[in-house]
Amino acid sequence: MTSIVILISGRGSNMEAIVRAAQNEAWPAQISAVISNRPDAAGLDFARSHGIPVASLDHRQFPNRAAFDAELVKLIDGYKPDLVVLAGFMRILTGEFVNHYEGRLLNIHPSLLPLFPGLATHEQALEAGVKEHGATVHFVTEALDHGPMVIQASVPVYPDDTADTLAHRVLKQEHIIYPRAVRWFIDNRISIDQNRVLISPPESQLLVSQDK
Ligand code: GRF
Repeated sequence: MTSIVILISGRGSNMEAIVRAAQNEAWPAQISAVISNRPDAAGLDFARSHGIPVASLDHRQFPNRAAFDAELVKLIDGYKPDLVVLAGFMRILTGEFVNHYEGRLLNIHPSLLPLFPGLATHEQALEAGVKEHGATVHFVTEALDHGPMVIQASVPVYPDDTADTLAHRVLKQEHIIYPRAVRWFIDNRISIDQNRVLISPPESQLLVSQDK
């Protein structure tokens, strides 16, 4: 049974998509805990109501990033995870944290990386005038929003888009690709060669949506 710990900071809709997929597809995995750095994160209620252990660790109560991350590692490791999933976890992580979970730490970023790392990705996409935008699930490495990419989903950008309409279109795809990537991990189908992620047997690592 693969043990998964999911970290959130807010709404938790990606966490929800993963939990639902795990239940609907009867994954040989257990969501051992959902942990938030914000005690009032809305996603914690969903996890609780699904019988998943929840915990929060308020980063504002720590003097610095290193102290918070060290405590977070202790908390996470109490659940003995094989995989740690960042799902809208709005914290920059220290190298110590990232290295501790090397090869078993996934993140979703709302852009077609390596384009638009950082925050406000939908605004960045509109400003740049790209006609295609999307989301990426990737392994986390020390460089922010970099690391081997597991799967990407692309969506069109329309002339009348706002950051909100674009975010909505991208989020729908996030809810498809994140559970898929986690499932691949659980089924041991992922290998990493330099910066490339290979899936065996092969399966498309790019979803192209034409959604309006
Ligand atoms: C998502 O767009 C995710 O890509 C980004 O933050 C947002 C979190 O949404 N990292 P949710 O909390 O999963 O609903």
